[in-house]
Amino acid sequence: MKKKITLTINDWQYPLEVSPNRTLLDILREELGLMGTKQGCDSGECGSCTVLMDGMPVLACLTLACEVDGAKIQTIEGVSQGGELHPLQKAFVEHGAIQCGFCTPGMVLSALALIRAHPTPDIEAIKKGISGNLCRCTGYAKIIEAIHQAGKSAA
Ligand code: FES
Ligand code: FES
Repeated sequence: MKKKITLTINDWQYPLEVSPNRTLLDILREELGLMGTKQGCDSGECGSCTVLMDGMPVLACLTLACEVDGAKIQTIEGVSQGGELHPLQKAFVEHGAIQCGFCTPGMVLSALALIRAHPTPDIEAIKKGISGNLCRCTGYAKIIEAIHQAGKSAA
């Protein structure tokens, strides 16, 4: 039986009717067309589906939508500001931290949560902050440099 919930996604309210087995990832991608949140392993291993829920990173593929009624969700579509890339996104571009880009939305959201909590994270804190996000392209060095630079610029 479907349950009525309301999610606030990127500052827009969405009244929804969801089946008990639908994940937040299903709702974002298939019902709302927010395809920036990526579906990788669909089993909690890769971090490509990371979004922020009430400011904290969560794996959307492991989050049942019916259990997060009232939550405030931020996806990659809600990170840019007034049509401008967020400084963190700019740093990813400037440091060549994006290759295929599949991991990038999840990486950016994990990094955003980290920088909001610790505006100038050191390298070890950055490694820990993105430890749940796998990238099969870049080898991580450029991603870590980008996050480090974004933290320094924001300080
Ligand atoms: S798609 Fe969610 S962790 Fe891989
Ligand atoms: S840039 Fe391709 S998976 Fe990270």
